[in-house]
Amino acid sequence: MDIKFTIRDLSLAAEGQRKIDWVIPRMQVLNKVREEFEKEQSFAGKKVVICLHLEAKTAYLAQVIKAGGAEVTVVASNPLSTQDDVVAALVESGIGAHAWYNASDEEYNAHLQLALDTEPDFIIDDGGDLVSTIHTTRPELLKNVKGGAEETTTGVLRLHSMARDGVLKFPMIAVNDAQCKFLFDNRYGTGQSVWDGIMRTTNLVVAGKTAVVAGYGWCGKGVALRAKGLGAKVIICEINPIKANEALMDGFDVMPMAEAAKYGDFFITVTGNMNVINKEHFHLMKSGAIMCNAGHFDVEVNVAQLKEIAVSERAARTNITEYALPNGHLLYVLAEGRLVNLAAGDGHPAEVMDMTFALQALSLEYVALNYDKLSPQVYQVNTEIDERVAMIKLQSLGLSIDKLTKEQEAYLGSWSAEA
Ligand SMILES: NC(=O)c1ccc[n+]([C@@H]2O[C@H](COP(=O)([O-])OP(=O)(O)OC[C@H]3O[C@@H](n4cnc5c(N)ncnc54)[C@H](O)[C@@H]3O)[C@@H](O)[C@H]2O)c1
Repeated sequence: MDIKFTIRDLSLAAEGQRKIDWVIPRMQVLNKVREEFEKEQSFAGKKVVICLHLEAKTAYLAQVIKAGGAEVTVVASNPLSTQDDVVAALVESGIGAHAWYNASDEEYNAHLQLALDTEPDFIIDDGGDLVSTIHTTRPELLKNVKGGAEETTTGVLRLHSMARDGVLKFPMIAVNDAQCKFLFDNRYGTGQSVWDGIMRTTNLVVAGKTAVVAGYGWCGKGVALRAKGLGAKVIICEINPIKANEALMDGFDVMPMAEAAKYGDFFITVTGNMNVINKEHFHLMKSGAIMCNAGHFDVEVNVAQLKEIAVSERAARTNITEYALPNGHLLYVLAEGRLVNLAAGDGHPAEVMDMTFALQALSLEYVALNYDKLSPQVYQVNTEIDERVAMIKLQSLGLSIDKLTKEQEAYLGSWSAEA
């Protein structure tokens, strides 16, 4: 097979392979899926393009799909999360790759086009860039693409908009909306990895400080919970009154950003929305305040406005930009406002991505086996797949759970008061 690649440096492969080797024994659900894929060869003769954050766990997912018979090509879903050594290891293992760390917008888009030149049958997307690129710039590929799976909340929202407007041309599975995804990846994965990214980048203490978390969705809950565990005082900013009440009952302060801006030492946006922290908030912040984003796109902290009002800007440390305001205050932005856990860290822990990527692999296999019965819509992950992933995870941890007795099953299924 002719492997095509556009990467930084193939000689980094050995280090990348070490990173992949570290995660494999920690991804037991995916190991089980790999064994099945090797036997079943459901992707034989098919081409798959995977657009995800290119680090070790993703690399293993790509290798598992290849083990199922596919010709796999990977491309980045974010220019700052690509690990050049991991990408090199993928190429060495027979997987096409078009990505490098810190690609410019032009390079990033060129890489997407190169990956699409393989004319994929199936795709895995993260945030919707691949799907929108196919629909807007490569419509000739629509006859090839039979379907795919989407990783994150923001991508699923975009897919729903496309389906609503009647422009989505192939079926996509909303992996993000599976219980084994958002309950663990969005909540515990983001919760842990965001603080890992902030702490390794800043090397500052969290205890006793005030953390402002914008967005109390699945990710925000995790980020707030771990902030509390690290000893921070936590303030939640929300636009949804129900989520705001939930945050309050979970023990957090709730207030609008215009008020929270005065108190925060750390600001973490994780809303999936745009312009959550703006000029009016920067002016209110304490000197030394640190801002970062964990939402999919780098549009939550309005860095463009910060640049406009700043009198100077400098790199304070790797992945930290310092902005001096006219009032003398110094404000800091981590990883240019891109996903802090991936652009300034290694992303979610392997054990969490194990479940997410098992869902991805099994959902893509479901599409590969059933695409002729699916229409161009957004589908939920099959409940059997979701429950199976949860059960294999428990088994891999050596745990078992209770089973319904016949009597309990009848009781739960009955409507009469006498049952
Ligand atoms: N960093 C990661 O590794 C990672 C992992 C999973 C998801 N994500 C991304 O994180 C984002 C959030 O995902 P989620 O699953 O938590 O979504 P979610 O829909 O569960 O939560 C988003 C929350 O933000 C709130 N919100 C929207 N606009 C707001 C605003 N202007 N101010 C305050 N709150 C606002 C919403 O009411 C909602 O409660 C998405 O972009 C998603 O793609 C990132």
